[in-house]
Amino acid sequence: MSGLLIDGKGFASGLRDRVGLAVSGLSAAGIVPGLAVVLVGEDPASQVYVRSKGRQTVEAGMRSFEHRLPDTCSQTELLALVAQLNADASVHGILVQLPLPAQIDAAAVIEAIDPAKDVDGFHPVNAGRLATGQDALVPCTPLGCLLMLRDQLGDLSGLEAVVIGRSNIVGKPMAQLLLRESCTVTVAHSRTRDLPGTVRRADIVVAAVGRPRMVTGDWIKPGATVIDVGINRVPAPDKGEGATRLVGDCDFDSCAAVAGAITPVPGGVGPMTIACLLANTVVAAARAHG
Ligand code: GUN
Repeated sequence: MSGLLIDGKGFASGLRDRVGLAVSGLSAAGIVPGLAVVLVGEDPASQVYVRSKGRQTVEAGMRSFEHRLPDTCSQTELLALVAQLNADASVHGILVQLPLPAQIDAAAVIEAIDPAKDVDGFHPVNAGRLATGQDALVPCTPLGCLLMLRDQLGDLSGLEAVVIGRSNIVGKPMAQLLLRESCTVTVAHSRTRDLPGTVRRADIVVAAVGRPRMVTGDWIKPGATVIDVGINRVPAPDKGEGATRLVGDCDFDSCAAVAGAITPVPGGVGPMTIACLLANTVVAAARAHG
């Protein structure tokens, strides 16, 4: 590997320390930031995420409120809980874990969250504020990517950035954030005609498509910075029968041989997401009392 490894785990730990300091400051002023996480159903991956969010919230000195609803829960019941959390002054951030069961309209639930408490940054008001250059709560994963890029590259102005993937959660807000940094931004997706040629122009590549090892080293411009958002579980027969491992959307070895810097999977973007959620909760709490 010739490229520098971007240590998301270490970076997230530093960010959590800064969040802890901000929480101490707010607590001294009588404000203890509170984060409510709502989990509907029993999805195993979601349970792991929610547990981890709750633990890190408490470790940062904040209050954690966990609400679990059965997967048979109706949309009306979930909306009633969101209304209750909107009205609760000790709750500064609300996160409804996705995906939601099929009987629930996720967009309606997201729209019901008070935009000032929308620490996921998924509410159309926050998406619109981000797109129009106003103060917004910004989705955690792209925010984490941006912090790592700034740390790595400093001023991003004028750089060519290619974001692969156009989801509301990662691709679109990532593109907006890079535009705000004065990058020249291309959003590539499954219908992009010449994906390798498009990616090859990029000084910054952000891969968020959910396809294991899709981006290979021959797509990468020498020296480019590669941020791999993908977390894909794939069979790992070398580790034994039935074993699996996590891989990103980038083929790590071939990309790392060409890139100037690259995030690993796991240990890159993933740890930054929860750290940014804590940071957003502090921002929401400070604004609520500012
Ligand atoms: N499910 C997977 N990632 C996320 C996230 O960042 N926020 C929410 N609400 N649900 C998720």
